[in-house]
Amino acid sequence: MKFTLKYLVFRLFTVNVLAAPTSSVTEPDPANFVNVTLNGQKFIDKGMVAFGLIPAAFQDSTGNTFGGVGSAIAIERGTWTQNDDGSYSGSLIVQPDRGFNVDGTVNYQGRQHIVDFVLTPYYDTIPLSFNASQQTLALNYRSSLLYTERQGKTTTGLDSLAIRSPEQVGLIMDPSDPIANTTFNHLCLDAEGLALNADGTFWVSDEYGPYVHLFDSQGDLVLSIQPPEAILPFQQGSKSSTPVLNFTSSEDPTTGRAANQGFEGLTQDPLGTKLFVLLQSATIQDGGADKGTSQNTRLFVYNVTGSTSIPVLIAEYVVPLPQDSSNGHTFAQSEFHYLTDTQFLILARDGKGNGDGSGNEKSKYKNIDLFDISQATNIANTGFDEPSNPIANNGTIVKGITPAQYQPFISMIDSTQLGRFGLHNGKPINSSLLNSKWESLAVAPVGDPDFPDDYFIFTVSDNDFLTTTGVTNGVPYNAGLNVDTQFMVWRATLPSIQPGSVETSIGI
Ligand SMILES: *[C@@H]1O[C@H](CO)[C@@H](O)[C@H](O)[C@H]1NC(C)=O
Ligand SMILES: *[C@@H]1O[C@H](CO)[C@@H](O)[C@H](O)[C@H]1NC(C)=O
Ligand SMILES: *[C@@H]1O[C@H](CO)[C@@H](O)[C@H](O)[C@H]1NC(C)=O
Ligand SMILES: *[C@@H]1O[C@H](CO)[C@@H](O)[C@H](O)[C@H]1NC(C)=O
Ligand SMILES: *[C@@H]1O[C@H](CO)[C@@H](O)[C@H](O)[C@H]1NC(C)=O
Ligand SMILES: *[C@@H]1O[C@H](CO)[C@@H](O)[C@H](O)[C@H]1NC(C)=O
Ligand SMILES: *[C@@H]1O[C@H](CO)[C@@H](O)[C@H](O)[C@H]1NC(C)=O
Repeated sequence: MKFTLKYLVFRLFTVNVLAAPTSSVTEPDPANFVNVTLNGQKFIDKGMVAFGLIPAAFQDSTGNTFGGVGSAIAIERGTWTQNDDGSYSGSLIVQPDRGFNVDGTVNYQGRQHIVDFVLTPYYDTIPLSFNASQQTLALNYRSSLLYTERQGKTTTGLDSLAIRSPEQVGLIMDPSDPIANTTFNHLCLDAEGLALNADGTFWVSDEYGPYVHLFDSQGDLVLSIQPPEAILPFQQGSKSSTPVLNFTSSEDPTTGRAANQGFEGLTQDPLGTKLFVLLQSATIQDGGADKGTSQNTRLFVYNVTGSTSIPVLIAEYVVPLPQDSSNGHTFAQSEFHYLTDTQFLILARDGKGNGDGSGNEKSKYKNIDLFDISQATNIANTGFDEPSNPIANNGTIVKGITPAQYQPFISMIDSTQLGRFGLHNGKPINSSLLNSKWESLAVAPVGDPDFPDDYFIFTVSDNDFLTTTGVTNGVPYNAGLNVDTQFMVWRATLPSIQPGSVETSIGI
């Protein structure tokens, strides 16, 4: 099912009729650069270069509220273009999670949207007004693609209260699947990661299983990857009974991924031979029940060269997440992105900001960081893949495991950078307050011959579908507040990327 009701609703708020702000400054100011070193290479944060938004009330072509889309993004292959006037054009595929779920989960079908953009990087240090800044990333919704599973059934955002037994489907063996309940036997999907293949198929990672699903170009399920038992949510009833799978997101299991701490991170190499999957924070047995000990999460690497068979786990590493120095709480990760087989960008953050509802919206940490696994221990297919063998006790990694090397990099709450785009961190709560949840990364080359290692990093916020005029499946809702979907773009020197190896390289 493909909807191409071009611009139907979007015309209501077309922002790009105004010209982008002009400035004679054509390169970022080195005085504001932040330089870090990882594994002998120098990475440079050259600052924020663009901002854009889609209003909270906007609806997609199915008439549902357009929201949650910063859960995952990817630049559509072949669309990234450098224009003669110094601007860039392209299309972002954005993927929402599970619909408006502040008052319980809803039967929201998984989907992705195409949003066309024109990026006019702003390098000047003179602050733009909030309104003018929105011209630096002009956005236009184009269409949506809905996800279906077996027998053409719609996927659902509802919490999983039952399990579908493993089933042979043609050549594919489906694992035990999270379903809504025994009568509403539809696959539960809380989509958080997206990786696009060259042939039009795409991978989607999920929080319920936590699983990774392959969908075809029409949005229909092809196969599912089930992670090792150590990651699956097992619930121990009474002490003597055998633990049973329970995919609910309403309470923590006894072992496995914590509730709502599933596969937030998904990325792949540009040729699409390896899939990298990252858990949001530690499993319960690895310390995930407590924010003070949940920093040691796990990265999984799958061989996906044979796309018609279930991918094989070939590597697994421990990734230590950053922590709040004031209370030791983990800043869980919401996305990561491939740079090389051993280096990645990672987005780790707190939940403070517009939409958090706490009344104390000042964020302490929202970073696009780096990590390197070249020295890390591969623990795939060892005893650690069983729930009874934690990789960490009380936050301390067990002897014999060398974790990934973590390096803080780009602070998304830098007040100078936010100020250049009319944005702020902390009070007052209004639409120029930075959103709380940022959960996506995409990378595209700047194409500047003087700086061949420079890339744009796109990130989009998940606004949790917060709007006073919302609609889910034809039923109106009022979330009590409006939080727009904010988009931002940064520029950085990423020296480890092999030239031409980004899937968004111009012409690829
Ligand atoms: C960071 O690196 C850039 C480019 O090499 C240099 O111009 C700048 O002075 C450096 N900044 C700091 C604070 O070292
Ligand atoms: C900014 O744009 C909004 C929405 O179009 C408009 O209501 C507001 O008056 C503008 N503010 C300024 C300072 O131009
Ligand atoms: C899983 O746990 C939830 C919440 O306790 C419960 O309602 C549900 O019945 C359980 N599901 C299964 C399959 O046991
Ligand atoms: C199963 O879920 C559907 C959809 O939310 C709901 O209408 C139905 O009442 C549920 N059935 C049971 C037995 O809980
Ligand atoms: C991936 O699988 C293919 C096909 O089975 C195999 O030829 C290749 O060696 C594997 N690669 C890795 C890194 O395991
Ligand atoms: C974890 O730390 C707490 C408090 O320091 C201690 O009481 C507990 O025994 C420790 N647990 C393990 C498994 O080391
Ligand atoms: C948010 O409030 C601040 C402080 O009053 C103000 O400077 C800013 O313009 C406001 N932003 C918007 C979008 O109204």
